[in-house]
Amino acid sequence: MSTDTTGQGDAGGVAQASNTLTITDNRTGRQYEVPIEDETIRSIDLRRIKVNDDDFGLMTYDPAFMNTASCRSSITYIDGDKGILEYRGYPIEQLAERSSYLEVAYLLIHGELPTQPQLDTWTHEVTIHTFVHENVKEFMQGFRYDAHPMGMLLASVGALSTFYPEATQIKDVDLRYQQIVRLIAKMPTLAAFAYRHNRGMPYVYPDNDLSYAGNFLSMVYKIAELKYQPDPRIEKALDVLFILHADHEQNCSTSAVRSVGSSQVDPYSSVAAGIGALYGPLHGGANEAVLRMLRRIRTTDNIPAFVEGVKKGEERLMGFGHRVYKNYDPRAKIIKRAAQDVFEVTGTNPLLDIAMELERIALEDEYFVSRKLYPNVDFYSGLIYEALGMPVEMFPVLFAIGRTSGWIAQWLEMIDDKEQKIARPRQIYTGGRERDYVPMAQRS
Ligand code: ACO
Repeated sequence: MSTDTTGQGDAGGVAQASNTLTITDNRTGRQYEVPIEDETIRSIDLRRIKVNDDDFGLMTYDPAFMNTASCRSSITYIDGDKGILEYRGYPIEQLAERSSYLEVAYLLIHGELPTQPQLDTWTHEVTIHTFVHENVKEFMQGFRYDAHPMGMLLASVGALSTFYPEATQIKDVDLRYQQIVRLIAKMPTLAAFAYRHNRGMPYVYPDNDLSYAGNFLSMVYKIAELKYQPDPRIEKALDVLFILHADHEQNCSTSAVRSVGSSQVDPYSSVAAGIGALYGPLHGGANEAVLRMLRRIRTTDNIPAFVEGVKKGEERLMGFGHRVYKNYDPRAKIIKRAAQDVFEVTGTNPLLDIAMELERIALEDEYFVSRKLYPNVDFYSGLIYEALGMPVEMFPVLFAIGRTSGWIAQWLEMIDDKEQKIARPRQIYTGGRERDYVPMAQRS
């Protein structure tokens, strides 16, 4: 609550409530009292801090949103210092061990764990929507033979909006729900088609007898057999990877989904924006960099020299460090276990030994300890993907399949949030003003 009811500030003493911030504008000597709620002040409360009546008012400058909350959200909780990740309050460790990806998707989207009948209905709905229109297939066949699968996924998810024009009616709860089911159901199909295209192999239609992860494996790997039977350990590991990637609050791609969705465009276009953001090497591509690094190190004997180079600042230890986690990324612990399960099936990968030894050495080294650098989700995920026979171009695609449920949950929350409007940041203009147009002949 502000004591500045005039909008002019209060040069005298301000009666202060304990949950407020008192700001003194040294340009004018005026004081303002701004409410603090959830350890946060509202930027718009600063707008009334002005020197002159016709000033725009004070703004905050926050490139890359390092310290700006863009929404209230009840979906994902992260405590980066303690290494905690929870979806709707449930610890990621319990979900990875006891739940399934489709159950987690239900949880993220609906806010509660489903009852058995609810889960059965949800699983049935997703399963019967896995097929795509034949024109989608033809559309994908039009890509160049070596098209990047993430580019194909991005384009084909965007194209789905033209197949379901009713998706524009985002305020219609039933229509909206249909698109949610379609997005989760069709994402693995589009991803697998992109993979097969890249390999020059015929596309495999969904097998609705299989689980969500099992069907994806079938669409990727089936060759001539009548029925593909995924190894249950591989199926479980992939399902766990989807769970671990399902949501991570306001990261770059989720912010893209929310920002584009705030224009009230259909959810296919919003999710396509998220895929675009995830395509970038700073977001979905670090696991590929980890693999390249491990291949370059080649043997455990080379690790000490490599670590010395990292400490000298010659390069980074990829898969280590995180903007939010200043502790072991809880997802990395789970992935490490899943990697061991996968290697039981596929045979061990010497890169895993290098990764584990690298982790051991780094976690004992003062350089990494003092900077709170721990393995992140990408340190082991690339190894699993590689063991599954996935080329590196598919790594972000696999990430996108899992993240779809989180993107949708965040999109839904944004649509129903009365406080949200079209996303429209301000800027500090640094260019010239009021310049007269110069005819071409007079330009030097
Ligand atoms: N290897 C070596 N040193 C590192 C690393 C690393 N991986 N990460 C951070 N540091 C050092 C920095 O050099 C810096 O040291 P200094 O204080 O002596 O200058 C200090 O730790 C702090 O690093 P910042 O770059 O300020 O940390 P920031 O939060 O900006 O970066 C990031 C986080 C980008 C993830 C970083 O740790 C990094 O580059 N890691 C490697 C890439 C990677 O694994 N990315 C995947 C992230 S998870 C995901 O996106 C899904």
